[in-house]
Amino acid sequence: MVNVQTVAQDTLWIGGSDRRLALFENLFPLPDGVSYNSYAILDEKTAILDTADIAISDQYLENLAEVLKGRKLDYLILNHMEPDHCSQIQTVAALYPELTLVGNAKTFTMLGQFFPETAGIPRIVVKEGQTLSLGTHELTFVMAPMVHWPEVMFTFDSSTGVLFSADAFGTFGAIDAGIFMDGYDFEKQFLTQARRYYANIVGKYGVQVQSVLKKAANLPIKVICPLHGPIWRENLEVFIDKYRKWSTLTPEDDGIVVIYGSLYGHTASAAEAVAAKIAEKSGKKVRVYDVSKTHSSKLVAEVWRVGKVVIMSPTYNNGIYLPIDALLHDLAALDVKNRTFAVAQNGTWAPVSGKLIVEKLSALKNCTVLPGMLTIKSALHASDAEAVDTFAQMVAEA
Ligand code: FEO
Repeated sequence: MVNVQTVAQDTLWIGGSDRRLALFENLFPLPDGVSYNSYAILDEKTAILDTADIAISDQYLENLAEVLKGRKLDYLILNHMEPDHCSQIQTVAALYPELTLVGNAKTFTMLGQFFPETAGIPRIVVKEGQTLSLGTHELTFVMAPMVHWPEVMFTFDSSTGVLFSADAFGTFGAIDAGIFMDGYDFEKQFLTQARRYYANIVGKYGVQVQSVLKKAANLPIKVICPLHGPIWRENLEVFIDKYRKWSTLTPEDDGIVVIYGSLYGHTASAAEAVAAKIAEKSGKKVRVYDVSKTHSSKLVAEVWRVGKVVIMSPTYNNGIYLPIDALLHDLAALDVKNRTFAVAQNGTWAPVSGKLIVEKLSALKNCTVLPGMLTIKSALHASDAEAVDTFAQMVAEA
């Protein structure tokens, strides 16, 4: 069934949602699905911006045919070449053989790698600031390299103030009945998913995000159309401010997160006691996570949210408990910075995980690892109360 919605003058949303996919990029859990947004502009010339994931191809092609109503498709603008947006290029080109592809030099390098069969399709190679007129709609191309792929660009429609922002300002989560974020409660329904999406997908490239935010600040943007999740047409500054914080690794609030690994529950029990003591001494909200139960993408997002993180790990195979080690790998790979960490270790005969964790955390840029490590020998006991108190005080005061 066709599902097309109006974004702005002559501008339509023609995407769709997938609630079946379990893992985005075969990696990130999607408890609430994901949307793949594509847009059409119907002017003297017709254009679409990106295509969609193959999972929604039937819906997508139906929507596209509906909006064109028999007109030819003049341009397919490729803001992003990741397959969740480019998978329909060949199909669209076969259905609308008069189209011209629009992208930058890097776009077409990737196009040739993914789809060498497209070599014969006419193309326009655009550069920063270049424009394309569709009639009354004039499009300007804004390069956004490494947000989060090298070929990414934004397209700005000066006649409507619509910014087509590729993956930027996107979020996990299917779109329900409405395509606009002002139809939802952003804080309750999308903020957590948007943060998890940003931190894990784009988070490594904060410098590049800041660079494109500066360029976008010069544009009279009225609407932001991302490739995933609802469209922003009101209170844009709310989400832009989140992007400023996320891209500079500025904590959003003064909460504290405790992440522990535990084989048999002893480190878990210690984590609960430590968290309670930190909450008591700091007066801050403290969240506790079992690294084996909570997906690393959620833990990464929580590290993005807060300024202070406590990591508690058993010693395992004379090293770090593997799920904690995997999380540390993620934090390093995503270039986490500007955080304060405290470390607790457990070991029944030779606790070493703490020292190894400190080494890894110390390698993160502009991060502080508090000096007072808490060491647990198998389990916390009443005799450890003073050590727990001192550790919690250190975290509260940091
Ligand atoms: Fe939604 Fe980078 O693809």
